[in-house]
Amino acid sequence: MNSFGSTIQLLEIKSRSCCRPALLAALLLGCVNSRAASDVDARVGSLLAQMTLAEKIGQMTQVDSAALPDKSHIQKYFLGSVLSGGGSDPADNSPQSWLNLTAECQSWAAKTRLKIPLLYGVDAVHGHNNVLGAVIFPHHIGLGATRNPALVESAARVTAEEIAGTGINWTFAPCIAVAQDARWGRTYESFSDSPELTGELGAAAVRGFQKNSILACAKHFVGDGGTRGGADQGDTAADEATLRKIHLAPYLPAIKSGVGSVMISFSSWNGAKMHGNKHLISDVLKGELGFKGFTISDWAAIDQLPHDYKGSIEASINAGLDMIMVPNGPGQGNNYLEFIAKLTELVNEKRVPLTRIDDAVRRILRTKFAMGAFEAKPVDTSLTAAIGSESHRQVARDCVRQSLVVLKNDSSALPLSKNLKRILVVGRAADDLGMQCGGWTLSWQGETGKVTSGGTTILEAIRQSVGSNTVVSVSADGSGAHDADAVIVVVGETPYAEMKGDRGDLRLSAQDNALIKKARQAGAPMVTVLLSGRPLILGDALEASDAFVAAWLPGTEGLGVTDVLFGDYQPTGKLPRAWPRGADETPAQTSSGTQSAFPFGFGLTYDARHPSDSRPIKTASANP
Ligand code: BGC
Ligand code: BGC
Repeated sequence: MNSFGSTIQLLEIKSRSCCRPALLAALLLGCVNSRAASDVDARVGSLLAQMTLAEKIGQMTQVDSAALPDKSHIQKYFLGSVLSGGGSDPADNSPQSWLNLTAECQSWAAKTRLKIPLLYGVDAVHGHNNVLGAVIFPHHIGLGATRNPALVESAARVTAEEIAGTGINWTFAPCIAVAQDARWGRTYESFSDSPELTGELGAAAVRGFQKNSILACAKHFVGDGGTRGGADQGDTAADEATLRKIHLAPYLPAIKSGVGSVMISFSSWNGAKMHGNKHLISDVLKGELGFKGFTISDWAAIDQLPHDYKGSIEASINAGLDMIMVPNGPGQGNNYLEFIAKLTELVNEKRVPLTRIDDAVRRILRTKFAMGAFEAKPVDTSLTAAIGSESHRQVARDCVRQSLVVLKNDSSALPLSKNLKRILVVGRAADDLGMQCGGWTLSWQGETGKVTSGGTTILEAIRQSVGSNTVVSVSADGSGAHDADAVIVVVGETPYAEMKGDRGDLRLSAQDNALIKKARQAGAPMVTVLLSGRPLILGDALEASDAFVAAWLPGTEGLGVTDVLFGDYQPTGKLPRAWPRGADETPAQTSSGTQSAFPFGFGLTYDARHPSDSRPIKTASANP
């Protein structure tokens, strides 16, 4: 594993009395008052003093790799960062082609006069999920159900190692949205509707990434999870005290853990877009909370400010944006050439003060120094070889089994015996890796079917778990249950991401409901496993099932599901948000628990078959 490099090692020696072991944290927190911090600040200062305006503005520009007609533009425009958005994978999407892409981009940065290395960013939000064959972890909502910070830190560590194996040094994770309304299409990116649980798990993820050389990014600042009706990029109407209590709260532990970057939210607060909010970005985040890293805009998000493009650049940079994510290239509307030209004009016209530019660049350079990016060694190819390895899959499997929440278990239907004569497996999600993984998997929206190489579907996991005397058969339409000793139904949501997942109606689909009823008719014990990015209104499906398990979006490791179904692992998952009873229920009623079908913290165990929310968040351990 690459270390943070010599800058950081130097810091380690000099800052033993400070907040070790998170050294990037120590630096960014500003709690290293030793010579080491001033050494970094001196390096930043002397570099900044040599920079032209064009070089400074380049550092503040992040371009999507697919928008670069020619990678030499990295050199020509002194770009500080490149990203691969959800749709810009290299041709065959193998770890090697990612490695080639990032190496090529860095080589252009190395040809610039000052040789400032690039930050290369991706959305590795549940594993290194853009890369073919990478291990896919449960989405955040499932990790929220584990309530296990040590495990979340391990998941981020494994993800960081896979990211590093492709030459990438930045992930736009963790999302620390506190999703209030499950109709929001990004509910699964949120650990919980509890600010405390979100804060604790978010900070654990930050440590897991940054202790392993990968810059983390807490997102989306702030109030992304509070929009009216759960509308993506919508408006969070709340007074400041409420905004702070629910949505700002998780940023405090993230900053304390030294998070190096924060992404601003597409959403608005009381009708005004967050990307123009100087009070929250500059005064609160950077001032009051003491955030020492840099802020990044979301995907073309400044374009949504109520000005022309130049006015939007002015408003966002003056509000405290340090780096702008510009997805478009030449000839594609507001693009990076326009951005660079207009920001240059704004500085020359003194509409954006040079002091603001210097502050932004200082923050970006400081982060690059703190990460050891200037001393980066060639990628350790043993990390590339370990992408999707068995030991990485074991960590993901542990996440899966700890994330499962048993909602119902009548007549001790679970755990299932491994010696049943015949198990019937029903439902379109039973043998579908894509449905297990959900959105942000190999593509932005995700899709059904065999989306990646490696991994185990739930059907395959059932086959691997039972003894040779058990016949496992599959029924597409729910028929054939009459001579089965148990029926396992696996149903759920079709993959989606962001606004495409916003839904007014959260009922389990009519098709899935009908399937469950049909399978029930024969009277065999029936276990339903739900794959979903949020609680769904279950209606008759819950009644019809003897046992019901919320498996969230578990990712590639289906064996984690069968570990619980067959009793190799006692269920420990607890609901990270209350589960609504009816479609007409308001989110407020659900979160207050007055009308929920299952309250926050609910989850059955096999030993004591009663609900328990007693598992303390802080004492949870990584291992069963
Ligand atoms: C999302 C971010 C993401 C970015 C880059 C945006 O649409 O809101 O969460 O990091 O795209 O892919
Ligand atoms: C990109 C994502 C981005 C989204 C925003 C997609 O085309 O691939 O990275 O988050 O657009 O709308």
